[in-house]
Amino acid sequence: TLIRGGTVLSSTGAVTADVLVDGETIAAVTAPGMLAGQNVEVDTEFDATGKYVMPGGIDAHTHMEMPFGGTFSADTFETGTRAAAWGGTTTIIDFAVQPKGSSLLSTLDNWHEKADGDCAVDYGFHMIVSDVNDATLKEMESCVAAGVSSFKMFMAYPGVFYSTDGEILRAMNKAADIGGTIAMHAENGIAIDELVARALAEGRSEPYQHGVTRPPELEGEATSRAITLAKVTGSPLYIVHLSAAQALSAVAEARDEGQNVFAETCPQYLYLSIEDLGKPDFEGAKYVASPPLREKHHQPDLWRGLRTNDLSVVSTDHCPFCFKDQKELGRGDFTKIPNGIPGVEHRIDLLHQGVVAGEISLARWVEACSTTPALMFGLYPRKGVIAPGADADIVVYDPAAEQTISAETHHMNVDYSAYEGMTVTGRCETVLSRGSVVVDRGTYHGRAGHGRFLERDLCQYLN
Ligand code: URP
Ligand code: ZN
Ligand code: ZN
Ligand code: ZN
Repeated sequence: TLIRGGTVLSSTGAVTADVLVDGETIAAVTAPGMLAGQNVEVDTEFDATGKYVMPGGIDAHTHMEMPFGGTFSADTFETGTRAAAWGGTTTIIDFAVQPKGSSLLSTLDNWHEKADGDCAVDYGFHMIVSDVNDATLKEMESCVAAGVSSFKMFMAYPGVFYSTDGEILRAMNKAADIGGTIAMHAENGIAIDELVARALAEGRSEPYQHGVTRPPELEGEATSRAITLAKVTGSPLYIVHLSAAQALSAVAEARDEGQNVFAETCPQYLYLSIEDLGKPDFEGAKYVASPPLREKHHQPDLWRGLRTNDLSVVSTDHCPFCFKDQKELGRGDFTKIPNGIPGVEHRIDLLHQGVVAGEISLARWVEACSTTPALMFGLYPRKGVIAPGADADIVVYDPAAEQTISAETHHMNVDYSAYEGMTVTGRCETVLSRGSVVVDRGTYHGRAGHGRFLERDLCQYLN
């Protein structure tokens, strides 16, 4: 396969080049026309003139088929990875969820059972550690050996996923020992539960209260505490779904001091706000996720964080629940609304609006959507770059095409879009996963089972 004459993007810039794919990998990146007359047999050719040619997106934070509050997120690994592919994401890293009382390895087996043979694009797992004990800590080593090198913990959701500071300290000690990364959901769940109880007691039960009871200060506090615990233990720390300026300040300060602290944000925090939670007729439930959507003034701070690399990654935290029958479980009690917002399909397009608006550079767009997640989670240079030897995960992106995001046309298995009616500039024209065409000009060519499990190395930013 030859992708001819496109603007090939990387985390360091752009060049006009031809990209030759042989089988599952990239064989050559050459000056335009160099391969003509070189006796190279080409079966399929794509003219990428005027288009970007970029490494396939890596969404390091998705939840397919995730159990939550008695229901499951609505995308299966099959439908979710198909939607990802439509949007130029050719790798997802999902979360295996350890129920309290279960072992990490049986959890990993369960998640393999859900995903293996079903994915349209490549996938890996993080492990959610909810039950810290001697056996679990020992099993963290086996997880790393099995290609699961990152462990998510929760300072939120007491009684469900929550870990105490002591438990976090123990897991961080282990992570420091074995080179694993601790990914943290940093919200002070104990304080939040008090605010929630007060709201319900006062009859404040509508979706907007989800935002009111999870103030940004309690994300800032938890983020600072996680950073302190990581410093004491020497563990690398990755703050997931950072939404608040207070949390960003804590991350920036730690990074300035040279600590191995990293953070991701998500498109919903860059584009949506707590005002959406206040939509009438229970529609606010569509926007219930944790941390909650914030006041708009946080958004310029997050864009600045993306420019300064205090925010290194943009992931979606894709966790779709249908409005009908799922989000509606929380009518009359916002705490019963399953938490999560769909988005795996539109991350790359939404971040491209940041390029269009002059918030971030082209190079930074590619870096935050692909190259950095590859390095952060031990997939580079197999993923995250267009270079000889890398997997041929390639997106031909038309930066001038316009599209309007809508549940009518999206491919995620969910009955609403958080971005309904938003017109964006740019669209994936062709998507290759390990050399196979998955999407081309509006037609889907992928198949469930093409996607392979990725055994990941350790974080590649550690010194
Ligand atoms: O509300 C959210 N974010 N749901 C997904 C689970 C999590 O905490 O990431
Ligand atoms: Zn979380
Ligand atoms: Zn601010
Ligand atoms: Zn999540």
